Formats: sequence, structure tokens, C-alpha cells
Amino acid sequence: MRLDQQGVPAAELRETMRRMADGDRQWKERLAAGVSYPAGDDVLEVAQQAYLDFFSVNALYPSIFPSAARFEREVIEMTAGLLHGDDAVGAVSSGGTESNLLAVKSARDRARAIRPEVTAPEIVAPASAHPSFRKAADYFGLTLVSTPLTADGLVDVAAYHAAVTENTVLMVASAPSTVLGMVDPIPEMASLAEKRDVSFHVDACVGGYFLPFTEKLGYEVTKWDFRVPGVTTISADLHKFGYTAKGASAILSRDPDVFRYQVFDFGPPERPQGYYVTPTIAGSRPGGAIAAAWAVMRYLGEEGYLRLVDGTMRYIRNFQDRINEIEGLTVLGKPDMSLFAYTSTTMDVYAVAAGMEDRGWIVSKDAVPFKAIHFMQSPGHEPFVDAYLSDLEQVVELVAAGKITARGTGANYT
Ligand SMILES: Cc1ncc(COP(=O)(O)O)c(C=O)c1O
Repeated sequence: MRLDQQGVPAAELRETMRRMADGDRQWKERLAAGVSYPAGDDVLEVAQQAYLDFFSVNALYPSIFPSAARFEREVIEMTAGLLHGDDAVGAVSSGGTESNLLAVKSARDRARAIRPEVTAPEIVAPASAHPSFRKAADYFGLTLVSTPLTADGLVDVAAYHAAVTENTVLMVASAPSTVLGMVDPIPEMASLAEKRDVSFHVDACVGGYFLPFTEKLGYEVTKWDFRVPGVTTISADLHKFGYTAKGASAILSRDPDVFRYQVFDFGPPERPQGYYVTPTIAGSRPGGAIAAAWAVMRYLGEEGYLRLVDGTMRYIRNFQDRINEIEGLTVLGKPDMSLFAYTSTTMDVYAVAAGMEDRGWIVSKDAVPFKAIHFMQSPGHEPFVDAYLSDLEQVVELVAAGKITARGTGANYT
């Protein structure tokens, strides 16, 4: 494609782009895991309006756009309140990956300051940790030490602690892990970090805006936030269960002393033209995404999030019970939220996946440590669960009768 000689009229462009989207999948109706997080048209409208209103705002310039600076500060304050971070500070990044990269950068630089003897820094993370920690290790010159899970897919705390050496500058845990949707045993894991003053990051990209509300609703959940001694940083994705626009995640530090290692600060005398100080990896940052996050959080308030989480937990528990009732299928572990996986003890679950794909469902497959089918469900997915289960029952019967077989071997879930 080459740049058009003459510009194309806006109406024509819009029509063309709509047609270009014809091949995109129906991510909501077909229950795709982790693609988008529908929470109702009203929430979407609030996010879209705020995004458009602040479309041209560049959050790199807080003195030119104090509105963006205030949105960011207040999003972080509201999040700190949810995570029990009385002294917590932080920033809004572009997503979970950037937040986790920042946690690694911050831990590396903190170790450089407090343990300068470490020259070959390592991150210790369970095998269930998100690939962004591997990415961070590659980008920032650290070694990722990945520790094995138990046969049940849980963190093997003894193996995890055994992997911590003099070179460890960061220990990682997930709330919840994407394998089973269960919160890692964070108090136990972090105890060693506290003892050795090693940075400890909780990846709550998925649970950050969901688990505080399951706890308030009375569901039992392992402690994972700043109440746990030793936790130094937490990532929580606004654009997941915060239900805000794409391009927003919160990365919080326990206190300003930890946060300063996240900040890039470059100024005189090395840069005589002035200071270039950024709290995240990006330079220019979309004000729209930050404004949308602020707007949705204020629009929903505690009552709104509680209502959405309550509704989701009720339908999810029912969804899981109904999967368990289907002969040969089992939901893995005891999921803490709407992220879960099911497998089969009697048939190849990838054959089930193939049958569901043929019926138009967007299927996420896990390979390690279990072959499984994976879900990450939002409030807006509820109306499509009955249709899914009806197809699932039929597909399972066909697989059991040998009429559908597996296709492919690998996982497609990231
Ligand atoms: C646990 C966890 N951490 C981090 C991420 C990365 O988030 P993003 O895709 O927003 O970069 C994900 C994405 O699903 C995740 O599940």
C-alpha cells in the first residue's frame, strides 16, 4: 500500500474500515478469554466519551495539562485505597506488560542502590508468571529464574524459596495466576523477601480491580496486597477488570522511597536544556486512556464495582458447576475469580476445543502444566453462557463417540 495521492473522504473511510472489521471475531458473544472486558454499554459510553474529550491531551506535559496529572494522581490514590497502600504512590502505564516491566526496572535499580555488590541480577518467578517478566529480563539485562509448580499447578513455595540467591533482586507472584485463576500463597512467598530486603512484586494485572471486591463480598481470598509485609510493588490493569479503555494499567509502589527507582530522571548538568522526568517507559502518553480510567472509576464507585463483581461471581460459580456436571469435564483448582480453566480426565480436551472452535467459539487452550480450556469472563459475557454450555454438552458427546478429534498440539493462550 502507498499513501493515497488524494485524501479519502471521511465517510468513505469509515465505511471501508467497518467492512475491514467484518472478519474480526465476535469477542463478546463467543466468550474469548482476556480480549476485552465488557461491563455494560453505560460503562463503555463513559469511557469512550472521556477518551474522546481528552483525545489530544499528552500526559507527558503535566504543567501544560494539569487535568491529566490530576486524573493520574487520583486514579492511583483510588487504587492505593483498594490495595491498602496507605503510603503507596505510582503511575498509570499503557498496560500490564509495561507495568510489569516497570516493576522489574524499579527492583533492578533499587538493588543497584542498596546492594551494589550484585552484578548479575536475577528475578525469581513461578512458572505460572506472565511472559512479561521474561520480556523484562531480556530488555533490562536480568536473568529470569523460573521455578516449577506443584502437580496441582500451584506455586511450590519450597522450590521458589530455594531459587533465591545473593543475586536475586526481585521475587514475583500473581494475584491470581493465569493458570488456575488462584491467588498465589503470597504471605508465605513474600516472607523471605521481607527477611532479605529483596523487592517483591505482585502481578495483580487480572485481580487488582476484582479481588478487593470479592473480599468485601465475603469470599475467602489469600491476602495479596500491601497488607502483606514485604510486598514492594503491585501492578493492576485498569483496562481489564477496571473496565476502562485499552491502554491503562496502574503500577504502585509501597512508598515514595520504592517508587523513586521506577522514575527516569535526566536533567542538568548532563542535559542543560532542562529536566526530562518520566514515571513510565513511554514519553508521550495518551491523556484519553488516563481520563477514561478516572471517569469509569468515578462512574462506578465502590457500589458499581461490587455490583459487577457480585453478579460475575454468581454466574461464574454457576457456569463452573454446570461444566463440572458434564461427564468427563472438571474445573481445575478453586478459582478465586472469573478466570478459570477446565480439563478432561476421560478425553482429549483439545478435541473438545476443536469441536467448540467449529461452532464458532473463540477457544483459549493451555498446555502447561495442564492441557485445558481457559476462560477470563466479564459481567457482559453472562448472556452467552447458556449457548456455550449447550454446545459444550453436544461437543463432549461427539468427542466421547470418537466423532471429533484434536487439532494442533500447542497452547494458544498468552
Ligand atoms: C497476569 C497477567 N499479567 C500481565 C498481563 C499483561 O497485560 P497486557 O496484555 O495488558 O500487557 C496479563 C495479560 O493477560 C496477565 O494475565
